[in-house]
Order: sequence, then structure tokens, then C-alpha cells
Amino acid sequence: MNEQPLFKDGVVGDRMNRVDGRLKVTGAAQYSAEYQIPGLVHGFLVGSTIAKGRIKSIDTKAAERAPGVLAVITHLNSIKVPGHANRSQPDEPATTGQPLRVFNNDRIVFNDQPIAIVVADTLERARYAAGLVKTQYEADKHATNFNAHTDRAKVPAQAKKNPKSPQADHDRGQVDGYKTAPVKLEMEYVIPSEMHNPMELQSIIAHWEAPDKLTVYDKVQAVKGTQRAFAKDWGIPEENVRVIATFVGGAFGNGLHNWPHETAAIIAAKQVNRPVKLVLTREQMFTMVGYRPYTWQRIGIGATPDGKLVGITHEATGQTSTYEDFTESTVQQTRMMYTSPNVSTRYRILPLDISTPIWMRGPGEATGAFALESAMDELAFALNIDPMEFRLRNYTDVDPDNGKPWSTKYLKECYQMGADRIGWKNRQLKPGMLKQGDWLVGYGMGVGTFGANRGRSKASARLLADGTVVLQSATTDIGPGTGTVMVQLAADALKMPPEKVRFELGNSLFPDAPSQGGSATVNTVGSAVVEACAALKEKLHQLAGPAFSAAKPADIVIQGNQLSLANNAATKVAYADLIKQNNGQEVAVLIESKPGDERQKYSMYSFSVHFAEVHVHQLTGEVRVKKMVSCADAGTIVNHKTAGNQMIGGAVGGIGMALTEGATMDDRFGRYITKDLADYHVPVHADAPHIEVAFVDKPDLIVDSMGTKGIGEIAIIGAAPAIANAVFNATGKRIRELPITPDKLI
Ligand code: MOS
Repeated sequence: MNEQPLFKDGVVGDRMNRVDGRLKVTGAAQYSAEYQIPGLVHGFLVGSTIAKGRIKSIDTKAAERAPGVLAVITHLNSIKVPGHANRSQPDEPATTGQPLRVFNNDRIVFNDQPIAIVVADTLERARYAAGLVKTQYEADKHATNFNAHTDRAKVPAQAKKNPKSPQADHDRGQVDGYKTAPVKLEMEYVIPSEMHNPMELQSIIAHWEAPDKLTVYDKVQAVKGTQRAFAKDWGIPEENVRVIATFVGGAFGNGLHNWPHETAAIIAAKQVNRPVKLVLTREQMFTMVGYRPYTWQRIGIGATPDGKLVGITHEATGQTSTYEDFTESTVQQTRMMYTSPNVSTRYRILPLDISTPIWMRGPGEATGAFALESAMDELAFALNIDPMEFRLRNYTDVDPDNGKPWSTKYLKECYQMGADRIGWKNRQLKPGMLKQGDWLVGYGMGVGTFGANRGRSKASARLLADGTVVLQSATTDIGPGTGTVMVQLAADALKMPPEKVRFELGNSLFPDAPSQGGSATVNTVGSAVVEACAALKEKLHQLAGPAFSAAKPADIVIQGNQLSLANNAATKVAYADLIKQNNGQEVAVLIESKPGDERQKYSMYSFSVHFAEVHVHQLTGEVRVKKMVSCADAGTIVNHKTAGNQMIGGAVGGIGMALTEGATMDDRFGRYITKDLADYHVPVHADAPHIEVAFVDKPDLIVDSMGTKGIGEIAIIGAAPAIANAVFNATGKRIRELPITPDKLI
């Protein structure tokens, strides 16, 4: 472990503007559907209109005869994907790959499952012809209603454990120990399915450049994972598959998995022997590319009258599809957040005739936090203790789950910063005490945590002849500003101005990096970038010869077309000479960075706390979030602007979870009736109040040498319960099923 943060004076920490900001706001940034490729044609998907059964007949004649149509591909005439033959299902969803074998047979396993793709010379003609496809089904009885399977008093009998999931049943201390507590509560909480709905629709251009060479411009969070998945599907070498995702217009997890539409486009491109572009409609975004699963939770929680937790039991059952066992870490934080001597967690999944859910920002933890942090608030109220004080009485300086010390934990600092900023002292213990005109005023808080994860990543660094350093790594940037912070890290590691550093991502030709997910990109890829910069200086040092040999590699200063030394500017060498020494090549390095054994010794997490002030109209039940304060212990903050933006985005996502979002299924048909942004409500500007962000900004040098811990997920985890708790404080009404719509309050 380093004693000092890596960066003291430099651009790390600055509110640097996004390196790609201008490209994005001027429309110059190319998203996957925007590549101009000669011969490009357009695909449009036909989805099933039943949720379960088989296709009896599918009549494509009229569609085939429609103007501009090149092909109508169904299970009857689709080429078979070689790798689909021996694919097992159901299976754990990999972070990439897709077990649903599109156009493989006549089976229907969810409503709006792709059953045909129409390819035409224009999008309009493809869409028109898609409407001419006539399908007859043999429908089986479908099950899409979670609640038909449960009396909500216990885990539904049909729910199952996923044998491969690490979320096995867990007990610390006495099983259901909360039952022995003098003060105890039992509650059930429900969250609906929530849909990702990023601005950019899911889209792909599939281009077979040769019979065994595939290029895809694809909206994914993992270019290397996608490359591996498609290479396996088609039985071709990985290097024959190129995946390009230079810009991604928002993704909170739905790009962590490959979906049937991607394979549909690839099949179509092969079959018509033209590049095929496929952009999902907004409605298809609700049915084909994952969502946060409907989840039922039960909490039993007990404490002593003076507010010491005795036990927590947390059970959760989330829905999954019949063809994939989707699991997430819904009950994980209950094991490590508070001192409770007794903790029992149970996690189940319930397969339904729906498409596979997927991680959505803060994934299971955001779902679990709604239950745990609501329950903490409920118990604090029952004990007549301030909910922040109650949390402080159960604060833990070691991970109670395994006894390990935290790498760092500055959650108490977060509490204090947030309490000051929201005006927590104005909060009344008794609900309904504060009023402004017709509005009841309440305050609430919710805590979040997420593992400070770090994986392996490669990165390359090359010094160009003009003195610019170009770094590459096959990560993606779904919006947090990855490209920008990598430039900042590299600039400081190289001691160069950021204008002289370029970072390239989103291309499978670049050195291997994991998907952008799990709040781990800066920890993982940032470490690789920093190490690549050090390796570049090492190599320059070796090549520079005797004049530099007394100095350390780190002292090398790269300036224009020459190198000098930090403490001895008179010692110089022309870079052109080094290039000569290097067999005429620009100096370049490729490294792989990996974590050490720190995880064996420490528990590593980011922490956040969200505070909300809400106003609830006494007559209409309208809830207005007046102010939010989100505070985070996320280690070193590399860029206060982009990190702050992530926190604000997460808080807005929390407002959506708490107040507006929820997909509504019409169980008669097993199909969502919420299908666009007019009836699935994401918060708009008018719903998002002033959001204040505060970071502890202390490095965690155990997680990585930069001291970072990760922000993306903790930005939303705990935000929804903060609002729900504030609604209770305002009204005395405890809403345990999200979203908290006005009808639930009047
Ligand atoms: Mo995130 S749910 O890891 O994109």
C-alpha cells in the first residue's frame, strides 16, 4: 500500500470539461446507428403477440412482395447460428452472450419475442412490410403475474434458488434472531419492474466484411465480451469479430448483456449479404433488452429499546425469465451495513413467461436498500429515535459479515455533511408536524453501499512523434466521463498537460478490458492507464541512454519533440533519436494491470447517504421532492464535475424509483401496457429539484494506487428509500410498494 496518494498537484480532482463534450453537443459523435456504410440496408423486427406457446404458421408472402424488401427471415428460413446448437439453457446470464436462440424454432417464451426480421432498402419500407407478416399461434397458458404465485406472506413456493448464484441462504448468529428482540417489526416491500430507457435506443449495424469476418457497431457496455460471444456463436476466431462502441448514449446495465435483436441483425446481414442496421423502437426497449426485475421483499427487524439492533431477516424474490436464471445482490448489504449480531438472508428467483431482466443501475443493491433502509426508518420511528442517530448506534467499524477491516469507510462523515446541508435539525420525530400552506413537509434519509471492485485490464500507451501520448483500452464510456478521467489520470501520471494526452476506447481492437459495469471502470482501467504511463516512462528511460541513467524514469519530462528531466532541464534528448534507437518505431508499451490480494485482508466498499426534503400536498397527494443532498465516500474524486454529474443522475434515478417509474403488465396478454415515455414516467426537469452533492474525497489506497472506489451505483442506492422515508415523515403514511403515486397517499 502506498503512503501517499498518487496525485498531489495536477489535474486529477479538477472539474475538467469532457474531452468529448464538444463532439457530443455538436452531433459529431457517432453512435452505433450513425455509421455510414456503403450498401447499408434496414431491418425491422416483428415480435410475437402471445407470451407463451408456438408459432403455428407465419405468412410472409405479402411482406416479401412489398416494395424495397430484400428478405423476411423467420425460424423457417433463417440460417442457423452454429454456436446455438449446443447452448444450454436456462443459464446464468453472462455479462455478455444471449441464450435465447433467435429464429431457431417455433417456441414463444415471452410477448414481443422477435419472430421475424424484415430487411428492406429503407427503414420505412422495412417497418411497413413488418406490419404485413401474419402469424398464427398455438398459445399456452402463460404466467406473467408475480402475485398470482404468492400470497405475499412468504416466499412463493414456485420460486427457486439458483444453484450457481453466490446468493445462497445465509445466517449470522441465530436464525431469524430478530424475533427475540424486545421491539420488532415485520414488513413487506415491493418494487415494480423498471425499464432502462436511455436516450439512445438499442441499435446495431451488422456488417459481414467477409464470410468469416464480422464487424458490428453495437450499443454495448462490453466490446471484448461481445466480441467473444459473437465469435463463439459463429465459430470464427475472436480477431475476426470487430466490435465498435465509441459512443454509448446512456446505459445502466442493459448493455451488459447481448440480446436477441443483435443476433437477428447479424443473421440478416449474412443472409442478404449486406450491412444491416437495426434500431429498436421505444416500445421494443420495454420488451427486448432487460429491466430491473419486479421484486418482493420481506424484512423482520428487531432492536433493544435503546436502539441496538438484535437481528435482521431479509428475504427477497425477484422475477426472472423461463430461459435464464437472472440473479442480483439484493440482500447483500443487509449482511454488512449494520452491527446486528443476528442476520438471516434468503434470496429466490421466480421464473415467469417474460423476457430476462438485467442489472439496472445500483442493481440488486438499489432494490434491497429500499427494503432495508425503509425498515431502519420504521424501526427508528417505533423506538422514537432519530433515524440518523439509530444508524449511528449501529455503525460498524469492521465488516460484521466477515470480521475484516474496511479498506476505508467515511460514512459518518457523509452523514454529517448531508445532515448539515439538508437541514436535518429541522426534522421532527413525529410525522405531519411541518407544514407550508397546503403542503406537508418531511425529511428522510437512506444509505447506500456497493463493492469497490477492481478487475484486470490491459492498456497501451504510445508516444507519437509530435509529443502526444495516445492510450488505448477496450473499455466503454456509457456516459460517466470515462474518456475524460482517463486523460486526467494519464496526464498526471505522465506529468503532462491533458491537451497532450488522448485516450481511446470502445473498440475491440484495443487492449482487453472488462465491460463498463459494477462501478469498477476507474479502479480497473484507471489502474491500467496509470501503469501504462509508468511503463512508457520506463521504456523511454531505457532508450534515453547514459545521459538519463542517473535519474529515475518518473523524472522524465515529455515536452514537444524532446525529453528532459524534471530536476535538470539542461539534460535533453531529441525524441527522434529515441525513435531511431527503437528501430524507427514510436515508443509504445502494452501492460496488464491486476489487483493484488487486498480482498483477502479487507472489505472494500463505497458508501453513500441520500437526504431528501419532500412536500406532499394534503388534498391531492402530489409529492414534490424539494431538495436532495447526496454525499459519497467514493475514495479519490478524479473529476468533481463528472463525478458530481453521476451523483445527480443517480439521485434523479432515485426520484424515478420512488415516485414515478414502474412498468405495468397486462396479465391477460402477458404484455406491458407501458410502452413509451408518455406512460412510463421518468422524472423530468420539473420533477428534479436542486440536488446538492458532497464527496468526502479521501483516497482509499488499498483498492488501487489512485485511491478511487467507484461512484456509479452508490449514486442511486439508498436514494429511493430516502424519499419514501421523507414521505412518511411528512404524512405518517408508510408506502411499501413503489412508486409512491398520489393515489397511495390520499
Ligand atoms: Mo451497471 S447496473 O453495472 O451498468
